[in-house]
Amino acid sequence: MVNYKGKLALVTGASTGIGKLYAEELAARGSHVILTARSKEKLEVLANELSAKYGIRAYAMPADLSKPGAARLLAEQIAALGLNVNILINNAGFGTHGRFEEISSEREQDEIMLNVASVVEMTHLFLPYMQQQRDGIIVNVASLAAFQPSAYMAVYSATKAFVLSFSEALWAENQKSGVRILALCPGATQTEFFDVIGTMDAAGGAALSSPESVVKAGFRGVEHNRSYIVAGRMNYFAAQAHRFISRRRTALIMERMTRPKPVSADPSVTSAK
Ligand SMILES: NC(=O)c1ccc[n+]([C@@H]2O[C@H](COP(=O)([O-])OP(=O)(O)OC[C@H]3O[C@@H](n4cnc5c(N)ncnc54)[C@H](OP(=O)(O)O)[C@@H]3O)[C@@H](O)[C@H]2O)c1
Repeated sequence: MVNYKGKLALVTGASTGIGKLYAEELAARGSHVILTARSKEKLEVLANELSAKYGIRAYAMPADLSKPGAARLLAEQIAALGLNVNILINNAGFGTHGRFEEISSEREQDEIMLNVASVVEMTHLFLPYMQQQRDGIIVNVASLAAFQPSAYMAVYSATKAFVLSFSEALWAENQKSGVRILALCPGATQTEFFDVIGTMDAAGGAALSSPESVVKAGFRGVEHNRSYIVAGRMNYFAAQAHRFISRRRTALIMERMTRPKPVSADPSVTSAK
């Protein structure tokens, strides 16, 4: 059994969605939590709620993790309070959807900085202490999109393929270190993710999972010291498609699934609900 009581967990992207629920579940299991994302007010409200409800210490530490140096500054703020992080949930992330050449290059640079660079930097900053303690957990939120190239989400699926590969490699390196490292791979999930992308076309017609089920899978994956876990049985089968279908075919199937739908002439019907 993994013991969460009295540990300090740092959750990125904790202002909403999967990260918010992850923070709540950690607090319910007795962990103190550091909540980070850009939305200062939401973090403060959640920190107050969690400390009142679960009797744990909760800190709101806003940061824009797509900016160079932001992760280091956050680590310095945490160290200045004399705190050491035992559990790191690298969850903050966003996606982009559309034809590659039509998506803003700046937006995709931010996407790479947040989904990839900040995950690597946060791991550099917090893994060594966990290794010294011979105890720790890092959960990197990847995606079902990590398993296959997704047309119209070329950069997003590549960032998540990075997170999956990075996490599995570190999991193998840390077999004897006492630190558990997991890539948590949700399929399409009911959060603000699709509002941020601006279209449901990115879901490829998949039924949306609940964020609760995703967080549950994360805890299960850590409990069993898995290197990765796909949330949801159907998503698991979808993730294994590459075993039976060529990479070329998989890329073409994905192209059909996530192709932007023509916007209806009727203004009450949009592709982004
Ligand atoms: N929902 C899905 O279908 C789905 C599927 C597979 C994987 N995922 C992954 O799951 C993770 C969580 O997404 P979600 O579904 O919970 O989406 P969400 O509801 O949009 O939450 C994203 C979180 O990331 C934070 N964030 C965004 N930009 C940030 C930045 N520059 N610096 C710091 N924090 C930032 C947001 O807070 P602020 O806006 O306050 O900064 C928010 O807390 C992401 O890594 C996503 O790629 C989601």
